Amino acid sequence: MLIIEKAPAKINLGLDVVGKRNDGYHELSMLMASVDLNDYISISEIEGDDIIIESNSHRMPVNEKNDVYKAASLLKERYAIQSGVKILLEKRIPICAGLGGGSTDAAATLRALNRFWNLELSCEKLQALGFEIGSDVPYCIQGGYAAVSGKGDIVEPLAVSISPWVVLVKPDFGISTPTVFKAINTSISRVNISSLRAAAEAGDYQQMLHYMGNSLEDITIIRKPFIQKIKDRLLKCGADTALMTGSGPTVFALCQSEKKADRLVNSMKGFCRQVYKVRVL
Ligand code: C5P
Repeated sequence: MLIIEKAPAKINLGLDVVGKRNDGYHELSMLMASVDLNDYISISEIEGDDIIIESNSHRMPVNEKNDVYKAASLLKERYAIQSGVKILLEKRIPICAGLGGGSTDAAATLRALNRFWNLELSCEKLQALGFEIGSDVPYCIQGGYAAVSGKGDIVEPLAVSISPWVVLVKPDFGISTPTVFKAINTSISRVNISSLRAAAEAGDYQQMLHYMGNSLEDITIIRKPFIQKIKDRLLKCGADTALMTGSGPTVFALCQSEKKADRLVNSMKGFCRQVYKVRVL
């Protein structure tokens, strides 16, 4: 048997840092959406008892440090699975980008192995297991539009009909998420997630643009000013808005027409090598 599972990237339409928690993590409030830039997880059975990971990408480990491995071994141990499995990870989402690549791969592995091993675990159970791997994994179990809060563990799927074109621009450098979170101070800019959510749920695109924002953007831009240059260029070339996703460094632009998205892609190509035209799912 072979099971193939799609793992879509995410963008943060809004990311607000509500406060610092006693465990060192931060209380967040976010509006997330999936986009159709996907990694793929293929699962097949092997003889023996091992978890073997193979990937087309040589830019990340295929050992126990990989989120796919963590997801597989967590399920295997928790449910005392005796058989071995080979997981082929086809990477298309840039890594260390703010696009949730590792988290979506872990979530897709949990979904796929849930079927492969006939575990019949509920979505809530998969989210709780995913949360043991990383803060964005519970959201990635279901994906789509969602309001996410707490540490990332409270996920509320939203019915939103807005489906803009998205141009993703990933600069050649990465940024460490813990470094960005560690630099948070009291002067951080705040984002009105409840108004953003209301605009999205009402299908009001212009209001949604108005309320979009990312509390981490200023912190990352101080360290990587090129992100501001990408934003400026996208806006100058006609993007409806341009915002950093997650802790960065990827910037995404939204626009309503595909023609405009194509124009944005062309105008960014000489500027950054990794530019993608995608759509909110
Ligand atoms: O959970 P995950 O390993 O994905 O988080 C990466 C880093 O992001 C953490 O080490 C922490 O510095 C930061 N983080 C945070 N508060 C959250 C989620 C992540 O401070 N709610």
